[in-house]
Amino acid sequence: MDDQHQSHEVADDLSPTRRSFYIKFIYGIMTAIGAALAAPAAIYLLFPPKIPKEGQWVDAADLASLPTGTPEEISYQRTRVDGWKVTSEKATAWVLKKPDNQVIAFAPQCTHLGCAYHWDDPSHTFICPCHTSAFSIDGKVLAGPAPRPLDRYEVKVEGSRLQLGPLEPHA
Ligand code: FES
Repeated sequence: MDDQHQSHEVADDLSPTRRSFYIKFIYGIMTAIGAALAAPAAIYLLFPPKIPKEGQWVDAADLASLPTGTPEEISYQRTRVDGWKVTSEKATAWVLKKPDNQVIAFAPQCTHLGCAYHWDDPSHTFICPCHTSAFSIDGKVLAGPAPRPLDRYEVKVEGSRLQLGPLEPHA
């Protein structure tokens, strides 16, 4: 057997092994790329981020800072969830602390067409400037086209903090 013939035999013997090595290597790389691409999705599905639900309770104010017997407009941060997007936005509410420390929190929109209303101390009423609806200190309609009392948020007090919840359902 000459040298040239011998080297062809060796090459033929190694070729299937080498081919299968390359095939396994390529599959290995493809598997690794696939895993790298799929891992974030798998982690997201297995451990979804904790997205605060809309309507969750939010910390709104220090109870001691609210005047007693006079409505006060407060500002606080509320979380809004829009699909996967979670944003924190400024929100307001009109809050009345009664002498017994009970609190009523009104949504800031007039129940007619949603204008912002304000507290008018001399007349002791909430007044909406858009179409002159008026509401009593406990939110009842006194005048104007407003079809229902002011909307209220659920409230609770934790320690000295006022928490606002979702809107109360209408009776
Ligand atoms: S929006 Fe308030 S009275 Fe019309």
